[in-house]
Amino acid sequence: MNILGIETSCDETAAAIVSDGRNVLSNVISSQIALHQSYGGVVPELAARGQIQAIIPVIEEAVSASGLGWAGVEAIAFTQGPGLAGSLLVGVNTAKTLAMVRNLPLLPVNHLEGHVYANWLSLPGLEVEPPALPAICLLVSGGHTELLRIDAPDQITVLGRTIDDAAGEAFDKGARLLGLGYPGGPAIQRARVGGDPHRFAFPRASLGGSLDFSFSGLKTALLREVEPFRERDDAPPPDPHALFPPHRPPIFRPDLPVADLAASFEEAIVDILATKTITAARETAARTIMIAGGVAANRTLRDRLASLVVHHWPAAERPVVRWPDFSLCTDNAAMIAGRGWIELQRGNLAGLDADAYPRWPIGSQPPGHAQKGSR
Ligand code: KG4
Ligand code: ZN
Repeated sequence: MNILGIETSCDETAAAIVSDGRNVLSNVISSQIALHQSYGGVVPELAARGQIQAIIPVIEEAVSASGLGWAGVEAIAFTQGPGLAGSLLVGVNTAKTLAMVRNLPLLPVNHLEGHVYANWLSLPGLEVEPPALPAICLLVSGGHTELLRIDAPDQITVLGRTIDDAAGEAFDKGARLLGLGYPGGPAIQRARVGGDPHRFAFPRASLGGSLDFSFSGLKTALLREVEPFRERDDAPPPDPHALFPPHRPPIFRPDLPVADLAASFEEAIVDILATKTITAARETAARTIMIAGGVAANRTLRDRLASLVVHHWPAAERPVVRWPDFSLCTDNAAMIAGRGWIELQRGNLAGLDADAYPRWPIGSQPPGHAQKGSR
């Protein structure tokens, strides 16, 4: 079964074809990063307009790169939520239109469940085994931070989540405070090279030993450290009437210890993420620890988890630590097409009246559809 996936939840427009929920035949992503960089973050209205320009060419490219052509596409999976409303609507409406004109089944996918499912996908020449279960999945993206127990691809239990900022959002806000640009995660990874991760003791919120996370105090602590290095900005203030005022990066004295600050800031985020993930894995006797979402691209986080399992388990009982290929960590449509196959197995089809759900917690019924089946 060849499924076309469509993903438009934020600022990436993506389409992909995946066969049998497993093999990625094509995976096309058009990024708007350049568009949002001058604003220091995603501007929702611009993101929605960018989606509508890119969506058809991206889908055409995914169909053609798969080698199947339209005749080989057997179902259409789309991101129904969560995400930015205007961006989601573009994908939802495109998917419905294609399903109607080609008379194909329409499969609604939760974006976060898609991120988790990326761990099941094989790229051409990069075959992966399905993860051994039960697994712990740390889902860390720009909008979400969730610690999940996975008993089957569609049996997901939330063990903990952020009570304020998401981990990716913390990277983005930290990078903004340091004047490093957007997106923050890769910018901080570049800036921290050669820095001392223990020079600044940024706070780690343990939240009474629960598996929840909090990152907002970290941002305030970073602000306190950089303030003394700020130079006066004599440029006139941005036009207060501008619809989208451009972001003006802060100006610092040249002796700002940017590498040490970036390294210490990253260390605080990675430390708390990795520590709680290991605790969850021990409590659930997990056979696999997997990471998902854009922050799963972070090298320090990957290395930390890999070294902590060696420390905490004897070799014979050690869970496998794994993450998807980079192209499947950040927003993509292969994860949506893959997860769509699971929805098809469960008989979870959408109608042509399908709506977008900007707020839709992982593992729950879509809002307003509580009567349909169980999740
Ligand atoms: O999953 P994703 O592409 O989009 C959302 O659904 O949010 O994640 C984007 C987030 C951004 O916050 C970005 O700063 C973060 O992932 N990110 C990273 C890295 N690469 C991307 N964070 C830390 N280290 C990285 N290397
Ligand atoms: Zn995402």
